[in-house]
Amino acid sequence: MDQSRIPCQIDPARLASLLGTVRDRFTVEALHECRSTSTSLLERSRQGAPSGSLLVADRQTAGRGRCGRSWSSSPEAGLTFSLLWRFAGAGMARLSGLSLAVGVAVVRALRTVGVLGVGLKWPNDILLDDGKLGGILIELESDHGSPSAVIGIGLNLHLPPAGEGEFLHRPAALAQVLAPLPDRHHLLAQLLVDLATVLDRFSLGGFGALRSEWQAHHVWQDRPVRLLDGELVDRVGICLGADADGALLLRTPTGIERCLSGDLSLRVA
Ligand code: BTN
Repeated sequence: MDQSRIPCQIDPARLASLLGTVRDRFTVEALHECRSTSTSLLERSRQGAPSGSLLVADRQTAGRGRCGRSWSSSPEAGLTFSLLWRFAGAGMARLSGLSLAVGVAVVRALRTVGVLGVGLKWPNDILLDDGKLGGILIELESDHGSPSAVIGIGLNLHLPPAGEGEFLHRPAALAQVLAPLPDRHHLLAQLLVDLATVLDRFSLGGFGALRSEWQAHHVWQDRPVRLLDGELVDRVGICLGADADGALLLRTPTGIERCLSGDLSLRVA
């Protein structure tokens, strides 16, 4: 069957009706299937799509994660969407720590729908009981000096089928802790409400304005960790969380080191 004729599980009008005061800040497009919501939204961004453009899809055939990894999503198991946000008047450097700020919004939204104990791991992992509940992919672009971000978020509603996807952490899913699951319109609406609030705060005060909240949810605080560059160990130390720029802080034998590179991954030592 022609996939473009299958309706998405998200009805844009119903979603909009749940957005309350932030309704006018989002333009929602919902697809049953696409290659990657982030890839498609990046294309729309280059064609001038407005800030607040949201693309949600039931299924991605080429979903992307950090460091070149893939992100699989099936209609039943996941909620996958990307949001375009333009930061007028800010330099690119002001956006450091954006993936951490987005993590704070996701924790707030999940708490509101009844999921407690969600943790954050630098720079983009959303964890539940040490399993990976979701991930955040931030892609930045600059248009005539004004940066914009395509913020891709994938959340597991149910556990993905065994053998599907590339997992560094064992997967976790909302269905393990929440029954019944919230209607996906309500969940997505809450995520958008919290994203609008957090992104406004971030625009004004940078990650520093949200840092203490991120630290409160940071799962590996004060634990020994290894920082990997691909398969290679880049550094080892005690994880001290993030600084006001969103850089990872590591206490190493030679002192406290900062790390801002987006290509590094963290493991428990
Ligand atoms: C990661 O943990 O590595 C980040 C995963 C991000 C996945 C989301 S799903 C929606 C959006 N579209 C993509 O292709 N990727 C992001």
